[in-house]
Amino acid sequence: MKPLIKKLVEAVGPSGYEGAVRELVKKEVTRLADEVRVDALGNLIVRKGKQSAGGLRIMLSAHMDEIGIIATHIDEDGFVRFTTIGGVGPRTLIGGRVQFLNGAFGVIAGERLTATDPVHSFEKMFIDLGAAGKADCPVKVGDLAIFDRPMMDLGNRLVAKSMDDRISVAVLIETLRKLKNTPHELYFVFSTQEEVGTRGSTTAAYAIDPDLGIAVDVTATGDTPKGMRMAVKLGAGPAVKVRDGGMLSDPRVVRWMADTAEAAKIPYQLEILEAGFTDARAIQLTRAGVPVGCLSIPCRYVHSPSEMVDYNDVRHAVSLLTVLLSNPIHLQ
Ligand code: CO
Ligand code: ZN
Repeated sequence: MKPLIKKLVEAVGPSGYEGAVRELVKKEVTRLADEVRVDALGNLIVRKGKQSAGGLRIMLSAHMDEIGIIATHIDEDGFVRFTTIGGVGPRTLIGGRVQFLNGAFGVIAGERLTATDPVHSFEKMFIDLGAAGKADCPVKVGDLAIFDRPMMDLGNRLVAKSMDDRISVAVLIETLRKLKNTPHELYFVFSTQEEVGTRGSTTAAYAIDPDLGIAVDVTATGDTPKGMRMAVKLGAGPAVKVRDGGMLSDPRVVRWMADTAEAAKIPYQLEILEAGFTDARAIQLTRAGVPVGCLSIPCRYVHSPSEMVDYNDVRHAVSLLTVLLSNPIHLQ
């Protein structure tokens, strides 16, 4: 899966501008699917299978968008001020590089700090594109950029700017490839605008009207020095979400996922994330409500330009999803 992962995580696709990622995904899934469509918000909706006896209509969702920045002002000297797209942390930015959608690159730098500033706030940061002045600046107000960083392959551990959530996009594509027979009508949704509030999955869930929903996304870990107290770590398997900052998984879905992993001897962990939420929240709250769960890929340094996942967790996530979707489901 590594070549596929590299292609996906190095693609440029901030929220609302997922076109390049969508084209990559479309190429991978078209011959694996029964139907492929794109809706008004840019979600790529891929159907596989037709509902038969004991089958459900199931929506799976992994978001294509990544966090980024948007230019708000360009001064006479050609320095660009910006605001954020999604949950960007100011601590990870200074000295980093950005790539704008038009291909222009720049360096993130900051004003001199006063003794009372603990860290650069966004107001004290700017992007230097090497321009001699405003007329020479290749970027205009409203242009978006992402944090430029190639993927790093450390063997079992992979590092990239957008593991959140391209690693799950890769997991869904690989699951689609592995899945031979299913009694279910499956909708693999490669969603848009998750990082600005699960907007793509909101409209996709309404259109699909599923019996069951599963989001696939990254989650934080508690396995770094003096990090948060959280019982999820890299390398111990994908995590079955019990609760996050915006959703309580349906306990029957949690049980089904955990029992299936145990029966198939696939390692898994149980996840409680205190802040943040996923597309599962949007699916759960659509129309009259939907039972949902979420399979998470443990990820260190989420929302930094160097997000780290464990390759075995990724492969186990594919195996678990493939088993989950191959058999009839009786939630209890
Ligand atoms: Co995110
Ligand atoms: Zn995410």
